[in-house]
Amino acid sequence: MRRLLVAGGSLALILLIAVVLISTGLIGGGTVGATFRDVFSWSVGGGGGALQPGVAPAHSWTETERGLIASLSIDRLPPLPPDPSNAVGDSPDAVALGHALFFDSGLSPDGSVACSTCHQPDNYFTDGKVFANVRDIDTPRHTPTIVGVAYSDWFYWDGRKDSQWAQALAPQEAAIEHGGTRTAHARYVLSHYANEYEAVFGPVPDFSDTSRFPPEAAPVENETAREAWEGMTEGDRGAINRVFANIGKSIAAYSRRILPGRSRFDDYAAAALVNDQAEMSELFSAQEAEGLRLFIGKGQCTDCHNGPLFTNGTFHNIGLPLPEGSRFDQGRTQGTYQVVEDTFNCLGEYSDASEEACVELRFIKLEGEELVGAFKVPGLRNVAHTGPYMHNGIFPDLDAVLRHYNHAPPAFPGHSDLVPLAFTVEQSEALKAFLLTLSAPPDAPPELLLPPNDE
Ligand code: HEC
Ligand code: HEC
Repeated sequence: MRRLLVAGGSLALILLIAVVLISTGLIGGGTVGATFRDVFSWSVGGGGGALQPGVAPAHSWTETERGLIASLSIDRLPPLPPDPSNAVGDSPDAVALGHALFFDSGLSPDGSVACSTCHQPDNYFTDGKVFANVRDIDTPRHTPTIVGVAYSDWFYWDGRKDSQWAQALAPQEAAIEHGGTRTAHARYVLSHYANEYEAVFGPVPDFSDTSRFPPEAAPVENETAREAWEGMTEGDRGAINRVFANIGKSIAAYSRRILPGRSRFDDYAAAALVNDQAEMSELFSAQEAEGLRLFIGKGQCTDCHNGPLFTNGTFHNIGLPLPEGSRFDQGRTQGTYQVVEDTFNCLGEYSDASEEACVELRFIKLEGEELVGAFKVPGLRNVAHTGPYMHNGIFPDLDAVLRHYNHAPPAFPGHSDLVPLAFTVEQSEALKAFLLTLSAPPDAPPELLLPPNDE
């Protein structure tokens, strides 16, 4: 294709005329049409496609474009690889225990908070709030979905955890989330789920001696709990940590099962792959197709939102405004140090992975200007339902998100990785129409989307 272009101006001109004739319907497109269109679209810099608005078919794509569209399809999502740091990640018994714990508010001291309080199955595992908020206190960040996040290398907006099970431990002790302590949670799980625990992890340890295992002990901010924790022997702390890690591993086994479903876009991508124009025009309006064209073309969205989950899995600063009255959030600059120091990381003693398997952590990039104010690129599947948007929930709707991409103000501090798009209103509307095609109920056994015993 490229070679044809350099072959000479006159050939390009002939092809150009042919393309004009084909796309205006003056001569039959037929099977050779795609090749000619490919050449034309390269000659205008790719992504163009539409010769004259309203004349060129909305669903005509170059081969390159079709390849790019297919790369976003759920058909390209590989089976979920095992998590080497979690030996029970794919054990059905662990899934069952994790399922119960995900919905169990017994893991919070006042019995009011479970994972599902903020990650609500009916809301694509989000909460619809600007900042996560329980007991009338805001957390500093917006609740992301957990659908499909099992494919991530890093967890949280700043990636301060390197596995889903290690992540699942943090909210349990965060004062603004569940607000508990690991000795209390270990004891709670071992007493309420003794059989289930034993089925997965073997004999239940005995923590009944409260002089050795205080009711509330953990390395948390709360001074009483922290002093109690520091007063324990190293061996006893290790025994508690082991059960605590196992709680996380069961919750992760459950959360791993919540995967994204097949959206209308995925059907469109399948039709695009075989260039089935009739099927494509059944599935997408011209506006939605135009939005897809902008998404993979002029909008440069696929620089970061690529692959079947619409994320490259890395961290970027996109120059977001600060919510009123809040301080600058360092993002990835802090997340890197936290994950390296985490007791429960891939290289730690509670991980089931060999050192070689911890590639991401061993080769983590700890410093760099590009990490300042950078946050995890969220996937965009179900984005119609997961607002407000961004780590700080700063945008109430997709219009506001797209206005931001349109202006792309400079970041301060740090450096924004965006360039202003300066799209017309129609282009922004088209892009939004496309984003709305990415919705589908999560792909998981239906009973996992309800609290256990509520089937
Ligand atoms: C108070 C509401 C709240 C509760 C309770 C809560 N979460 Fe979250 N969750 C959040 C917020 C907010 C974030 C993002 C925090 C951040 O990035 O600093 C998050 C992030 C996550 C992520 C990372 C997603 C990603 O894209 O990296 C996972 C996974 C997750 N939570 C699972 C859980 C599990 C499992 C539980 C129960 C043990 C839980 N959450 C309890 C609000 C909550
Ligand atoms: C340079 C990388 C980059 C590019 C290019 C990019 N994004 Fe993003 N996108 C991000 C990051 C990073 C976030 C999260 C930022 C944060 O919370 O601090 C994000 C967040 C979003 C969100 C919010 C999702 C949510 O759940 O909160 C939407 C919607 C979105 N992007 C759409 C787009 C569209 C449409 C384009 C193309 C016009 C685009 N992005 C281009 C990196 C990028």
